[in-house]
Order: sequence, then structure tokens, then C-alpha cells
Amino acid sequence: MSVVVRPVNIEFPEQIDRYWFGNSPFKTHFLNSITLLFPDVEQYIIRNVRQWLKQTSQGEISQDVRAFIAQEAQHAVQHKNFWNNLHQQGYEITPYLRWLRVLLNMLEKRLSIRLNLAIVAGIEHLTALMAEFALKDNFLAEAQPQLKALFEWHAAEEIEHQSVAYDVFQSATQSYPLRLVGMIVAHVLILGFLNFGLAVMLYQDKQLFNSQVWQEMFQFWFTKDKFLAKAFLNSWDYCKKHFHPSQRDNLVLVQKVIS
Ligand SMILES: [Fe+2]
Ligand SMILES: [Fe+2]
Repeated sequence: MSVVVRPVNIEFPEQIDRYWFGNSPFKTHFLNSITLLFPDVEQYIIRNVRQWLKQTSQGEISQDVRAFIAQEAQHAVQHKNFWNNLHQQGYEITPYLRWLRVLLNMLEKRLSIRLNLAIVAGIEHLTALMAEFALKDNFLAEAQPQLKALFEWHAAEEIEHQSVAYDVFQSATQSYPLRLVGMIVAHVLILGFLNFGLAVMLYQDKQLFNSQVWQEMFQFWFTKDKFLAKAFLNSWDYCKKHFHPSQRDNLVLVQKVIS
């Protein structure tokens, strides 16, 4: 599947329900947390891929890598647009972003470019799983329409470009231990900050000690949606010696969203 850049501009109405996803504080803030996390993570991904290309490609960059970078840049911009709404709803997101940026900068400064590319590939592996989850079984059916469009479009493009970062990493090194270390760091980073962002939003919204929220959270991670088990099995696939993202059977999900 080739990677295609689509012009997208999602405008969010000024007034959006505080609990815009199924009237659920948990679901809403979980997705708000994704919206806080991904713009900076996507910029980190772009910087590392560009850095590697600058060192090696002598001006020759494949169309898919170009399109991958452009897609990630657009995702960051569109999610960031919703930060205005979060500000308007009274949330203070700057301290969270400061922590995130400190960590991402540290990874870039302290680790080799190859290890950063391994982390990038690991992040893309986890986002492909998140994208499958979002697009299966009409998960976003109860979300506010513009936010539903944002997350479905983003998810579809994550699946569409799921092989690109892995291929860039493999072009840099075929080291199996580095692939595994990158995957572990990526999971700690993404799952850690997703939960941190969720806690920040719930706390500011005075919902952190709401038992309904904790019940839904437990269902999501452990019982109903079993996302933690899915993430574990997904990582297990990644550990297979001859794994490649193109082995994922998920392209049908993309076609439902983008034609
Ligand atoms: Fe993205
Ligand atoms: Fe991505």
C-alpha cells in the first residue's frame, strides 16, 4: 500500500461538550490525552527520520518516506488545533507538555540515532495497534463528529504508513537487540505518558476519584477491551525474528475510512 498525503483541515466548533465521547469522562480524557501526547511525539519521529536521511540519503528520499513525514506533520497540526478547545474548557496543559518535551529531548541528545529510530519504529508499532482498535467495531461511534473524523483519519493513516518507520530503522541497522530495546522504550514512553495525561486531565476536571471512571479504566485495560493484553501480544509479534509490519492483516480497516 503506498502512502498518500491528503489535504485535511478539521475545524472544531467553539462549543464542544466537556465529555464529547459518549458522555464519558474516562473515554473523553483518554482521547484528550492522545491529543496532548501525539503532536510532540510526531515531531520527535519526524526529526529523527529526517536526521537519519540527512546523514545517509544524499538527497534521495523515497516517496513513501516523504509522505510518511507529511502525514505525521499533518496529524500534529490537526490534534494541536484542539488544544485551543482544551484551553477554553479551562485545562492547563503546559506543565504536562514541558515534561514530555524534556524527556523527548533527552532521548534525542543522549541516545544514538539508531536507537532513536528503534524507538520510533516501536512507537509506530504501538500506534498501529491503537489505530486498529479505534477503527474496529465502530469504536468512535459515540464521539463528537469532528473529533470522530480526526481520530478515524489519523488511525487510518497510521495503518497506511505502518511499515515506513520500521523500514527506515532496518535501513539503519538490522540489530535485533536494538529493535527490542526500542520497542520497550516506546511502550514505556507512550503508555506512561498516555496515563500521565489521562491523570492530569481527570485531576483538573475533578474526576480522578470518580468510581465510574476507574471502572471504565479497568474495563479498558484489563477486562472488556483488554487493551493491555492486546499490547502485550502485539509486542510479542514484534519480537519474532522475521516480523514485518506488512504482515498485519488490517488494510481493510483503512479502506472503510479513506478511499
Ligand atoms: Fe500520526
Ligand atoms: Fe505514525
